[in-house]
Amino acid sequence: MNPLIHYHVDAELALIGLARPPVNALGQPLRAALLEACEQAQADPAVRAIVLYGANGLFSAGADISEFGTQASCAAPDLPGLLQRLTSMDKPLVAALGKLALGGGLELALACGYRIGEPGTRVGLPEINLGLLPGAGGTQRLPRLIGARQALDLILAGTPVNSETALRLGILDRVAKHADALLDEACAFARELLGDRAAARPDVPYPDPAGGLPDDFFEHFLEANAPRWKSRLAPRLVLDALQAACRWPLTEGLAHEQVLFKQAEDSRQSAALRHVFFAEREAAKVPWIEADLPLRPICKVAVIGAGTMGGGIAMNFANAGIPVILLERQQDALDRGIAQINRNYANSVKRGKLAPEQLEQRTTLISGTLDYADLRDVDLVIEAVFEKLEIKQEVFRTLDEVCKPGAILATNTSSLDVDRIAAVTSRPHDVIGLHFFSPANVMRLLEVVNGRQTAADVLATTLKLGRTIGKLPVVSGVCFGFIGNRMLEPYAREAHRLVLEGASPAQVDNVLTGLDLNMGVLSMLDLAGIDVNFLVRDANRTAINHDDSYCRLGDELYALGRYGQKTGRGFYLYDDRERQEDYEVIALAERLAGELHIPRRPIDAQEIHDRCLFMLINEGIQLLDEGIALRASDIDLVWINGYGFPAHLGGPMHYAEQLGLDKVLRGIEHYRQTLGAYGEMWFQPAPLLARLVAAGKTRIERF
Ligand code: 3HC
Ligand code: NAI
Repeated sequence: MNPLIHYHVDAELALIGLARPPVNALGQPLRAALLEACEQAQADPAVRAIVLYGANGLFSAGADISEFGTQASCAAPDLPGLLQRLTSMDKPLVAALGKLALGGGLELALACGYRIGEPGTRVGLPEINLGLLPGAGGTQRLPRLIGARQALDLILAGTPVNSETALRLGILDRVAKHADALLDEACAFARELLGDRAAARPDVPYPDPAGGLPDDFFEHFLEANAPRWKSRLAPRLVLDALQAACRWPLTEGLAHEQVLFKQAEDSRQSAALRHVFFAEREAAKVPWIEADLPLRPICKVAVIGAGTMGGGIAMNFANAGIPVILLERQQDALDRGIAQINRNYANSVKRGKLAPEQLEQRTTLISGTLDYADLRDVDLVIEAVFEKLEIKQEVFRTLDEVCKPGAILATNTSSLDVDRIAAVTSRPHDVIGLHFFSPANVMRLLEVVNGRQTAADVLATTLKLGRTIGKLPVVSGVCFGFIGNRMLEPYAREAHRLVLEGASPAQVDNVLTGLDLNMGVLSMLDLAGIDVNFLVRDANRTAINHDDSYCRLGDELYALGRYGQKTGRGFYLYDDRERQEDYEVIALAERLAGELHIPRRPIDAQEIHDRCLFMLINEGIQLLDEGIALRASDIDLVWINGYGFPAHLGGPMHYAEQLGLDKVLRGIEHYRQTLGAYGEMWFQPAPLLARLVAAGKTRIERF
């Protein structure tokens, strides 16, 4: 028998085990082997029922994502055809779902007549996260099993449920007592079915999946959700498929699902989201770190500074069950910090996101102190005090004195030189940057800033720990602003300059939100604070190499006390967060343009798009060339998870590849020629971009 399948006949039962580690992805070789095994069981008169299981304990994570967009994706036997064949067999099939049954894995189970899970098995259809819809019968068989409304919610959420919920929903027939008993209980289930002379497939509970839904349900659903979905294609295709399940017989519904699936698979959005899937897995890999490098144990953490960031950072560790101690200079600051954490947890309880007993567990894991002596036994310290080099250096001198040997000393600085902070200690190899994003307990991105002397095991330990606390860690080298904020500079520069040249702030932002970015850059500055932006700029004027035209507008807004949302005025006027254009800002831009001799003119959306995006992309490519980012896909993850770049565009680097690198280069050269001295100064193509285009490359890579 094929090595991808374990096949064994045991007293009238054929036990068929999927054996394609790590996750039994249903690529063509496994599909072929599975079909062969099922045909053998079907043909064997000694076999009366079939049990399908995961030979390594885990059932299946679905279709092989790396096949999408290639011939292999539909190579025979294709998944829908294979599952269709299983549904036509006249022997009962029982699927024993160990650990997870996702996407095509769950669809395989739905093609079986009966399903049993083990406690905690994750069951779901996460295709939507890849810009797809379930394409092997999921959109047709699930609604007939649990009703259209429940199926729609599950498919659109894309989040798996555990086996207990799956049982309640009717996706599972049974849950085994424990994982070790799963296969035995599945076999016992199959024998009961034989004893009862049960049909190979029971009748579906919802032959009319739409039962009880109003006639105009789908139209209203689309109308209500379209603003949230923005330009995403996959949710709309899901809705279309579910509508087919409600209106047409199974065979027609399955055929329609396949047409929709092909449309999704061929879409740029799905290609982008698949890129993001693999990018997230790549980000965990650092070329110079061996997989078996021993990590440092992290059992207790300290955070210095209980302000906006420190409190959020501490919550991450408490949420993951790791004790954390907060250190402040003064009791009142400590009390304020801890009170804020308690308020955050209380809000989560109020919103039903946290059980009251979890609140108790978490708050008891957080303690406070004013005394560095209490940090003697911690394994990791994260400093989150004011953004001033001298203050941070002072903190690190003290940490060097009090912390035990081997403790990791991290800084949450957003712009300072990690190497200069490390240099004041006697152990720069133990120092690293851990740049959380605000709100630190919510945002998924964690830039892990690898200093010049940071030890490999310190980097590896923090990368692993980042994932343990639910973050997406991305490695960055040391430079001003690391990956994210450094790219923000030229992107924001163009937005400022376009306003001086004649665009209104809303015009600039609307082009960016029109691309599905969460926020335009000027609205983002208003949210983060014009003052914060000014102070970082002011402290780094030499490092950032500003020219007047870029800074003046932001500097003047700062001087006017227009700090953004918090003062009700910034680039916009705010009335309870509702933003309005402010003619004072336009007048200010006109005055400054006059003083700076910048001609004002009408500016179109294409120019706004190209100037903001091409400068963002150019800086990313430059970062890659400098080795600040390890790979282009890491840059994409930073912008998707830290700056609201839409995942369905794949991040700025993937977006550039989709646009065409030659087009990006031509655009930059165009503005270099047409924007006078400003263009000459700023529109300099990254040498790597020019090299890639000259070599005819279409992917961004170091070269
Ligand atoms: N196809 C191909 N490779 C997959 C895969 C899949 N469906 N699922 C996981 N892998 C690979 C990962 O790329 C990774 O490879 P690497 O070691 O070379 O980097 C390896 O398996 C382990 O994956 P993770 O590092 O993610 O391991 P975790 O234990 O953290 O997570 C998981 C496991 C929950 C299964 C997670 O990988 C996951 O969510 N996978 C995707 C599940 C999914 O989206 N399924 C639907 C696929 S589309 C589909 O089925 C279409 C159908 O309707 C026709
Ligand atoms: P904050 O002003 O809210 O908090 C700083 C806290 O540090 C205050 O509570 C202060 O009392 C305390 N503190 C100052 N000096 C101290 C010392 N010597 N010892 C102990 N405690 C001390 O500042 P915030 O916003 O939390 O920023 C902290 C750090 O995080 C800065 O380096 C900042 O650049 C960085 N950061 C901030 C982000 C943000 O959006 N606020 C995002 C990412 C990083």
